[in-house]
Amino acid sequence: MSASPSREEWTARAVFWDKHAPEGESVTDELNRILIDLAGIGSGDDVLDLASGSGEPAISIALRVGAGGSVTALDAHGEMLAGARRRAATLELNNMKFQIARMEYLPFADDTFDAVTCRFGLQSSEDAAQTLREARRVLKPGGRAGFMTHGVEERNTLSAVLANVVCGMFPERVGAAKPKRLRFREPGSLRAGFDAAGFDEVGEREILRVVTREAGSRFWRSLLERRYGSWLETLDAEDRSRLDAAVEEAFAAHLAGDRYELESADMVSWGTK
Ligand SMILES: C[S@@+](CC[C@H](N)C(=O)[O-])C[C@H]1O[C@@H](n2cnc3c(N)ncnc32)[C@H](O)[C@@H]1O
Repeated sequence: MSASPSREEWTARAVFWDKHAPEGESVTDELNRILIDLAGIGSGDDVLDLASGSGEPAISIALRVGAGGSVTALDAHGEMLAGARRRAATLELNNMKFQIARMEYLPFADDTFDAVTCRFGLQSSEDAAQTLREARRVLKPGGRAGFMTHGVEERNTLSAVLANVVCGMFPERVGAAKPKRLRFREPGSLRAGFDAAGFDEVGEREILRVVTREAGSRFWRSLLERRYGSWLETLDAEDRSRLDAAVEEAFAAHLAGDRYELESADMVSWGTK
Protein backbone atom coordinates (compact mmCIF):
# COMPACT_ATOMS: atom_id res chain seq x y z
CA MET A 1 0.00 0.00 0.00
CA SER A 2 1.68 3.26 -1.08
CA ALA A 3 2.35 6.07 1.39
CA SER A 4 -0.05 8.42 -0.39
CA PRO A 5 -2.73 6.88 -2.62
CA SER A 6 -2.04 7.26 -6.33
CA ARG A 7 -4.59 8.23 -9.00
CA GLU A 8 -5.03 4.50 -9.80
CA GLU A 9 -5.60 3.72 -6.13
CA TRP A 10 -8.27 6.45 -5.73
CA THR A 11 -9.93 5.32 -8.94
CA ALA A 12 -10.03 1.73 -7.63
CA ARG A 13 -11.31 2.89 -4.24
CA ALA A 14 -14.06 5.06 -5.74
CA VAL A 15 -16.49 2.15 -6.14
CA PHE A 16 -16.27 1.41 -2.41
CA TRP A 17 -16.69 5.07 -1.43
CA ASP A 18 -19.72 5.21 -3.68
CA LYS A 19 -21.13 2.00 -2.17
CA HIS A 20 -20.82 3.38 1.38
CA ALA A 21 -21.94 6.96 0.62
CA PRO A 22 -25.13 7.93 2.44
CA GLU A 23 -28.33 8.29 0.43
CA GLY A 24 -28.82 11.95 1.29
CA GLU A 25 -27.84 13.86 4.41
CA SER A 26 -24.59 13.00 6.14
CA VAL A 27 -24.26 10.28 8.76
CA THR A 28 -21.21 12.10 10.14
CA ASP A 29 -22.88 15.49 10.27
CA GLU A 30 -21.63 16.19 13.79
CA LEU A 31 -18.11 16.60 12.38
CA ASN A 32 -19.36 18.55 9.37
CA ARG A 33 -21.25 21.00 11.57
CA ILE A 34 -18.15 21.67 13.67
CA LEU A 35 -16.12 22.37 10.52
CA ILE A 36 -18.85 24.50 8.94
CA ASP A 37 -19.28 26.58 12.11
CA LEU A 38 -15.54 27.12 12.55
CA ALA A 39 -15.26 28.16 8.88
CA GLY A 40 -17.95 30.77 9.65
CA ILE A 41 -20.28 29.59 6.87
CA GLY A 42 -23.77 31.06 6.77
CA SER A 43 -26.78 31.43 4.53
CA GLY A 44 -26.02 32.83 1.06
CA ASP A 45 -22.28 32.09 1.11
CA ASP A 46 -20.35 30.81 -1.92
CA VAL A 47 -18.16 27.98 -0.66
CA LEU A 48 -15.43 25.81 -2.18
CA ASP A 49 -15.04 22.32 -0.68
CA LEU A 50 -11.72 20.65 -1.53
CA ALA A 51 -11.33 16.86 -1.89
CA SER A 52 -15.08 16.36 -1.46
CA GLY A 53 -15.14 12.65 -2.27
CA SER A 54 -18.72 11.44 -1.79
CA GLY A 55 -19.77 14.87 -0.60
CA GLU A 56 -18.47 15.45 2.92
CA PRO A 57 -18.98 18.17 3.98
CA ALA A 58 -20.19 19.62 0.64
CA ILE A 59 -23.76 18.28 1.01
CA SER A 60 -24.06 19.63 4.57
CA ILE A 61 -22.73 23.00 3.35
CA ALA A 62 -25.27 23.12 0.50
CA LEU A 63 -28.02 22.64 3.08
CA ARG A 64 -26.52 25.37 5.28
CA VAL A 65 -25.99 28.07 2.59
CA GLY A 66 -29.42 27.52 1.04
CA ALA A 67 -30.69 28.52 -2.40
CA GLY A 68 -29.02 31.95 -2.22
CA GLY A 69 -25.55 30.43 -1.83
CA SER A 70 -23.51 27.82 -3.62
CA VAL A 71 -21.04 24.99 -3.00
CA THR A 72 -18.41 23.86 -5.45
CA ALA A 73 -17.41 20.27 -4.64
CA LEU A 74 -13.90 19.74 -6.00
CA ASP A 75 -11.97 16.48 -6.28
CA ALA A 76 -9.03 15.33 -8.38
CA HIS A 77 -10.76 12.05 -9.20
CA GLY A 78 -14.09 12.34 -11.00
CA GLU A 79 -15.15 8.82 -9.93
CA MET A 80 -14.91 9.86 -6.28
CA LEU A 81 -17.59 12.54 -6.84
CA ALA A 82 -20.21 10.00 -8.01
CA GLY A 83 -21.79 9.68 -4.56
CA ALA A 84 -21.83 13.46 -4.08
CA ARG A 85 -23.64 13.97 -7.39
CA ARG A 86 -26.21 11.30 -6.53
CA ARG A 87 -26.85 12.70 -3.05
CA ALA A 88 -27.27 16.22 -4.46
CA ALA A 89 -29.86 14.88 -6.92
CA THR A 90 -31.69 12.91 -4.20
CA LEU A 91 -31.89 16.01 -2.00
CA GLU A 92 -32.80 18.19 -5.00
CA LEU A 93 -29.95 20.58 -4.25
CA ASN A 94 -29.69 23.09 -7.08
CA ASN A 95 -26.91 25.08 -5.48
CA MET A 96 -24.10 22.56 -6.05
CA LYS A 97 -21.39 22.61 -8.71
CA PHE A 98 -18.78 19.94 -9.32
CA GLN A 99 -15.18 20.51 -10.37
CA ILE A 100 -12.54 17.94 -11.22
CA ALA A 101 -9.20 19.52 -10.30
CA ARG A 102 -6.23 19.11 -8.01
CA MET A 103 -6.36 21.06 -4.81
CA GLU A 104 -2.78 22.26 -5.36
CA TYR A 105 -3.79 24.14 -8.55
CA LEU A 106 -7.25 25.64 -8.16
CA PRO A 107 -8.88 26.73 -11.43
CA PHE A 108 -10.49 29.83 -9.92
CA ALA A 109 -9.66 33.53 -9.92
CA ASP A 110 -8.32 35.25 -6.81
CA ASP A 111 -10.95 36.46 -4.31
CA THR A 112 -13.77 34.17 -5.51
CA PHE A 113 -15.20 32.39 -2.43
CA ASP A 114 -16.59 33.39 0.97
CA ALA A 115 -15.20 30.20 2.51
CA VAL A 116 -13.03 27.19 1.64
CA THR A 117 -13.37 23.87 3.46
CA CYS A 118 -11.61 20.53 3.34
CA ARG A 119 -12.36 17.41 5.40
CA PHE A 120 -9.75 14.64 5.53
CA GLY A 121 -8.24 15.74 2.20
CA LEU A 122 -5.11 17.72 3.10
CA GLN A 123 -3.33 14.56 4.23
CA SER A 124 -3.61 13.25 0.66
CA SER A 125 -2.16 16.39 -0.92
CA GLU A 126 1.14 16.10 -2.74
CA ASP A 127 1.94 19.62 -1.55
CA ALA A 128 -0.04 20.66 1.50
CA ALA A 129 1.69 24.06 1.80
CA GLN A 130 0.72 24.94 -1.77
CA THR A 131 -2.86 23.72 -1.16
CA LEU A 132 -3.22 26.06 1.80
CA ARG A 133 -1.75 28.98 -0.19
CA GLU A 134 -4.19 28.24 -3.03
CA ALA A 135 -7.12 28.08 -0.59
CA ARG A 136 -6.14 31.52 0.71
CA ARG A 137 -5.70 32.93 -2.82
CA VAL A 138 -9.23 32.04 -3.94
CA LEU A 139 -10.83 33.43 -0.77
CA LYS A 140 -12.36 36.89 -0.81
CA PRO A 141 -10.70 39.32 1.59
CA GLY A 142 -12.22 38.56 5.00
CA GLY A 143 -13.20 35.04 3.90
CA ARG A 144 -12.32 32.05 6.04
CA ALA A 145 -10.87 28.61 5.44
CA GLY A 146 -11.51 25.57 7.66
CA PHE A 147 -9.61 22.29 7.27
CA MET A 148 -10.17 19.06 9.22
CA THR A 149 -7.66 16.22 9.51
CA HIS A 150 -7.62 13.03 11.55
CA GLY A 151 -6.03 13.34 14.99
CA VAL A 152 -3.46 11.08 16.62
CA GLU A 153 -3.85 7.42 15.61
CA GLU A 154 -3.79 6.11 19.23
CA ARG A 155 -7.06 7.94 19.84
CA ASN A 156 -8.74 6.80 16.61
CA THR A 157 -9.84 3.31 17.59
CA LEU A 158 -11.53 2.40 14.31
CA SER A 159 -8.60 3.36 12.09
CA ALA A 160 -5.91 2.03 14.44
CA VAL A 161 -7.56 -1.35 15.02
CA LEU A 162 -8.09 -1.94 11.29
CA ALA A 163 -4.52 -0.91 10.43
CA ASN A 164 -3.10 -3.17 13.16
CA VAL A 165 -5.10 -6.20 12.07
CA VAL A 166 -4.46 -5.74 8.33
CA CYS A 167 -0.73 -4.99 8.71
CA GLY A 168 -0.32 -7.70 11.37
CA MET A 169 -1.87 -10.42 9.22
CA PHE A 170 -0.52 -9.42 5.82
CA PRO A 171 2.70 -7.43 6.37
CA GLU A 172 4.23 -8.65 3.13
CA ARG A 173 1.21 -7.54 1.12
CA VAL A 174 0.43 -4.13 2.56
CA GLY A 175 3.93 -3.08 3.63
CA ALA A 176 4.86 -1.61 6.97
CA ALA A 177 5.22 1.98 5.70
CA LYS A 178 3.38 4.60 7.68
CA PRO A 179 0.83 6.21 5.40
CA LYS A 180 1.14 9.91 4.58
CA ARG A 181 -2.34 10.46 5.96
CA LEU A 182 -0.66 10.48 9.38
CA ARG A 183 0.51 14.01 8.57
CA PHE A 184 -1.09 16.87 10.52
CA ARG A 185 -2.19 14.60 13.36
CA GLU A 186 -0.07 16.20 16.06
CA PRO A 187 -1.62 19.24 17.75
CA GLY A 188 -0.05 22.44 16.37
CA SER A 189 0.98 21.06 12.96
CA LEU A 190 -2.15 22.04 11.04
CA ARG A 191 -2.16 25.44 12.66
CA ALA A 192 1.48 25.93 11.66
CA GLY A 193 0.47 25.22 8.03
CA PHE A 194 -2.18 27.96 8.19
CA ASP A 195 0.32 30.42 9.65
CA ALA A 196 2.88 29.60 6.94
CA ALA A 197 0.28 30.12 4.19
CA GLY A 198 -0.32 33.69 5.41
CA PHE A 199 -3.73 33.34 7.08
CA ASP A 200 -4.76 35.73 9.86
CA GLU A 201 -6.73 34.94 13.02
CA VAL A 202 -5.56 31.34 12.89
CA GLY A 203 -7.02 28.85 15.35
CA GLU A 204 -6.95 25.12 15.96
CA ARG A 205 -9.10 22.70 17.93
CA GLU A 206 -8.72 19.03 18.75
CA ILE A 207 -12.06 17.23 18.67
CA LEU A 208 -12.14 14.23 20.98
CA ARG A 209 -15.25 12.05 20.95
CA VAL A 210 -16.39 8.62 22.02
CA VAL A 211 -18.44 7.12 19.20
CA THR A 212 -20.71 4.17 19.98
CA ARG A 213 -21.75 1.36 17.65
CA GLU A 214 -24.20 -1.48 18.25
CA ALA A 215 -22.64 -4.75 19.46
CA GLY A 216 -22.48 -7.34 16.71
CA SER A 217 -22.81 -4.77 13.93
CA ARG A 218 -20.10 -4.78 11.29
CA PHE A 219 -19.67 -1.01 11.58
CA TRP A 220 -16.02 -1.36 10.54
CA ARG A 221 -16.80 -2.76 7.10
CA SER A 222 -17.31 0.67 5.53
CA LEU A 223 -13.85 1.97 6.46
CA LEU A 224 -12.18 -1.38 5.74
CA GLU A 225 -13.58 -1.37 2.20
CA ARG A 226 -13.06 2.35 1.54
CA ARG A 227 -9.44 2.12 2.66
CA TYR A 228 -8.40 -1.35 1.50
CA GLY A 229 -11.14 -2.33 -0.98
CA SER A 230 -9.09 -2.91 -4.12
CA TRP A 231 -6.54 -4.93 -2.15
CA LEU A 232 -9.27 -6.91 -0.30
CA GLU A 233 -10.53 -8.12 -3.65
CA THR A 234 -7.21 -9.86 -4.22
CA LEU A 235 -7.72 -12.05 -1.10
CA ASP A 236 -9.18 -15.52 -1.49
CA ALA A 237 -12.33 -16.45 0.47
CA GLU A 238 -10.39 -18.17 3.24
CA ASP A 239 -8.07 -15.21 3.88
CA ARG A 240 -11.01 -12.85 3.73
CA SER A 241 -12.94 -14.74 6.42
CA ARG A 242 -9.78 -15.03 8.56
CA LEU A 243 -9.41 -11.26 8.29
CA ASP A 244 -13.06 -10.61 9.20
CA ALA A 245 -12.77 -12.91 12.24
CA ALA A 246 -9.57 -11.16 13.39
CA VAL A 247 -11.21 -7.74 13.05
CA GLU A 248 -14.26 -8.92 15.07
CA GLU A 249 -11.97 -10.27 17.76
CA ALA A 250 -9.89 -7.08 17.91
CA PHE A 251 -12.99 -4.90 18.34
CA ALA A 252 -14.36 -7.20 21.09
CA ALA A 253 -11.85 -5.50 23.41
CA HIS A 254 -13.87 -2.28 22.92
CA LEU A 255 -17.26 -3.73 23.88
CA ALA A 256 -19.03 -2.03 26.77
CA GLY A 257 -22.30 -3.89 27.40
CA ASP A 258 -24.44 -3.84 24.28
CA ARG A 259 -22.25 -1.45 22.30
CA TYR A 260 -18.74 -0.75 21.15
CA GLU A 261 -17.13 2.40 22.48
CA LEU A 262 -14.60 3.86 20.06
CA GLU A 263 -12.35 6.82 20.65
CA SER A 264 -12.20 9.36 17.84
CA ALA A 265 -9.79 12.29 17.51
CA ASP A 266 -9.81 14.93 14.80
CA MET A 267 -8.08 18.27 14.30
CA VAL A 268 -9.60 21.43 12.83
CA SER A 269 -7.78 24.61 11.91
CA TRP A 270 -9.16 27.81 10.51
CA GLY A 271 -7.88 31.16 9.35
CA THR A 272 -9.02 34.37 7.67
CA LYS A 273 -7.68 36.12 4.57
C1 LIG B 1 -10.11 10.62 2.55
S1 LIG B 1 -11.02 11.21 1.16
C2 LIG B 1 -12.02 12.45 1.94
C3 LIG B 1 -13.33 12.67 1.23
C4 LIG B 1 -14.33 13.57 1.97
N1 LIG B 1 -13.85 14.93 2.10
C5 LIG B 1 -14.72 12.99 3.31
O1 LIG B 1 -14.44 13.60 4.34
O2 LIG B 1 -15.33 11.90 3.34
C6 LIG B 1 -9.81 12.14 0.29
C7 LIG B 1 -10.26 12.68 -1.06
O3 LIG B 1 -9.19 13.46 -1.59
C8 LIG B 1 -9.20 13.32 -3.00
N2 LIG B 1 -7.86 13.73 -3.47
C9 LIG B 1 -6.69 13.07 -3.34
N3 LIG B 1 -5.68 13.81 -3.84
C10 LIG B 1 -6.24 14.96 -4.29
C11 LIG B 1 -5.71 16.15 -4.90
N4 LIG B 1 -4.41 16.28 -5.12
N5 LIG B 1 -6.58 17.14 -5.21
C12 LIG B 1 -7.91 17.02 -4.97
N6 LIG B 1 -8.47 15.92 -4.41
C13 LIG B 1 -7.64 14.91 -4.07
C14 LIG B 1 -9.52 11.86 -3.21
O4 LIG B 1 -9.99 11.63 -4.53
C15 LIG B 1 -10.58 11.64 -2.13
O5 LIG B 1 -11.88 11.88 -2.63
